[in-house]
Amino acid sequence: MKNSKKYKTSTATPYKQLSFADFLDQYFSILNAIYMNPRNKKSHELGCLYFDLNGGVGTDPKTGDGSPIIFHKKAIEHGIKYRAHIYELDKETFGKLAVSTSGFPDDFHIYNQDHSVIVDKLDGIYQPLQHGIIYCDPTDLDINFDLLKVMAKYYPKLDIVINVAAGSWKRSVTVHDWERLPDILSTIKGKLIFRKPIMQSQWTILVCTNFKGFKAWESRHFQDLDTDLGREWYNKLFYSANDLKKMNPQLPGF
Ligand SMILES: C[S@@+](CC[C@H](N)C(=O)[O-])C[C@H]1O[C@@H](n2cnc3c(N)ncnc32)[C@H](O)[C@@H]1O
Repeated sequence: MKNSKKYKTSTATPYKQLSFADFLDQYFSILNAIYMNPRNKKSHELGCLYFDLNGGVGTDPKTGDGSPIIFHKKAIEHGIKYRAHIYELDKETFGKLAVSTSGFPDDFHIYNQDHSVIVDKLDGIYQPLQHGIIYCDPTDLDINFDLLKVMAKYYPKLDIVINVAAGSWKRSVTVHDWERLPDILSTIKGKLIFRKPIMQSQWTILVCTNFKGFKAWESRHFQDLDTDLGREWYNKLFYSANDLKKMNPQLPGF
């Protein structure tokens, strides 16, 4: 879609890693509750499928564990069986990832490939029962929505998790006429929850989830549009002050 491929950290990285860990704590708690029901025996046997579309280095000396390792550790902590597929395009970054994940279980697979190759592997596979996660943590705003769309169809029970600077995206909506993120995401998977935005770039984690409406998300700092706080965050994440003024000209302060 757009440009940069290289791994790099920002001052928002520790918050991102914490947010992702919070997401996983809640997600795995829900999975364990589902697996307790004998009717879900097959899903339990299949375990959690994890696609990490932007693997990174694994462990960074400044910011600690990255998403593939956070996922692995959290799955162990919650007693979740998994199969993980981690994609990292940059050769040097992949080399570091390989070192920091050496000795990981056989079901933890890493690939020095562009994540779009996943499409070729999906052919003929339909997995209606398996729960799991697709994690997209691009450099800049390079989100492969076409891939997410195809994957959401093949794996309807996978949640899509996106780390993004919503403020930067919003500017591109104004300046370059990009589509708004919720409008794009609603064509992929309908139920959106989101993490509190931080910093000027409004970093957030967006989740298109199968498990919206669980109050427990709030204790992990995720909201949806059904709460006042959620509406406040949503407006901040996806609309500029000018947009809001046009939508609500009667609001004081505009
Ligand atoms: C922000 S970093 C990921 C950080 C990682 N998720 C973590 O938590 O440490 C983005 C990574 O995506 C990789 N990348 C960019 N485009 C890619 C593609 N098409 N396929 C696979 N990896 C890609 C970059 O090389 C970079 O290492």
